[in-house]
Amino acid sequence: MDYSVLVAAAFEARQNAYVPYSGFAVGAALLSADGKIFLGCNIENVTLTPTVCAERTAFFKAISEGVRGFSAIAVVGGLKDLNEGQVDFCTPCGVCRQVIAEFCEPDFKIITARSRDEYQEHTLDELLPLASKPKF
Ligand code: THU
Repeated sequence: MDYSVLVAAAFEARQNAYVPYSGFAVGAALLSADGKIFLGCNIENVTLTPTVCAERTAFFKAISEGVRGFSAIAVVGGLKDLNEGQVDFCTPCGVCRQVIAEFCEPDFKIITARSRDEYQEHTLDELLPLASKPKF
């Protein structure tokens, strides 16, 4: 499967990252099972704890609009002054992996990229084996 369009969308989302504290700008593009793309960026806070990652922003936007089935998320991250093409692979943090596990199957694809064409494909099961799953 070609994920270059999803990766390009993640780079777009990264433009909106609000990162005055870390300077590390992340963008995410979440693909729903019915083919819609939800964008997310990280949003930091002066008191730090309320900071939310790009991946969770994208998921919470989709979930709050009633979407439940997902097939993939593309993630791109790097220091804000690094342009597309200079960033390195950035994988979701543990908290985001757990949020993904709440809504996605083990074969859900997590795409990390350092340019539109240079990306790696992982599954949720690879990045969070033995995940805690909702039991209802
Ligand atoms: N961050 C993300 O948004 N996603 C990741 O996958 C890694 C970390 C954010 C959180 C914080 O705003 C900044 O990057 C530095 O950790």
